[in-house]
Amino acid sequence: MLKDFDLKKYKNAKLLEHPLLIHKITNLRDVNTKPNLFKQLVKEISILEGYEALRDLDTYNIEVETPIEKTIQPRVHKSQLCFVPILRAGLGMADGMSELLPGCTFGHIGLYRNEETHEPVEYYCKLPSDIAERNVYLLDPMLATGGSAIDAVKILKNHGAKKITFICIIAAPEGVKAFCEANPDIPLYIGVIDRELNEKAYICPGLGDCGDRIFGTVK
Ligand code: PRP
Ligand code: URA
Repeated sequence: MLKDFDLKKYKNAKLLEHPLLIHKITNLRDVNTKPNLFKQLVKEISILEGYEALRDLDTYNIEVETPIEKTIQPRVHKSQLCFVPILRAGLGMADGMSELLPGCTFGHIGLYRNEETHEPVEYYCKLPSDIAERNVYLLDPMLATGGSAIDAVKILKNHGAKKITFICIIAAPEGVKAFCEANPDIPLYIGVIDRELNEKAYICPGLGDCGDRIFGTVK
């Protein structure tokens, strides 16, 4: 564990750690979990995390007719939202958000880590032109060194995004520290925090390479 790591120092970080979430993450970690189930679990975990991270969604009132009477009730302002998965592994979380709120807008940021330096390399970016007016939910299951998430936030800000939230599933203490120090203003939702990074910057115990496990490209 990172020396002197204290989550309480990072006011923007929220550790979710619900027993259901932990149960599903345990199944996700299992080396015997095959891509189909792995993908399904990432989706279910994202729905559970999304339920918490989207607690402050704006609503507007509409009239609905129940079998009893007409009533004025709230609905979510979907057009004010944008989910942005970091490719590839973030796509698994995007599936969960699509299920939670069908018909929402998605942007995409493509980053991969250089295997030697562990620094992120950008290869794709497509965001809605009105991103500045939307609440942006950045999605990536893994927060390891934090490099990818920090770069993705920079990209979003360069495109004008003002209100950003980051949701991940497993974080390393190193990544939480780096992300929160770089972005103390951005809410960070975390499923669980693991022990540490190894020499290849993989999260321990972690789940291995998340993109490879979702898409079946494990070597
Ligand atoms: C993984 C993961 C994150 C990144 C986290 O992606 O999905 O984007 O690593 O590591 P970091 O916090 O040290 O930057 P990867 O680079 O393996 O790309 P892939 O999803 O396309 O395989
Ligand atoms: N990316 C992953 O997919 N897994 C890790 O453990 C670290 C980065």
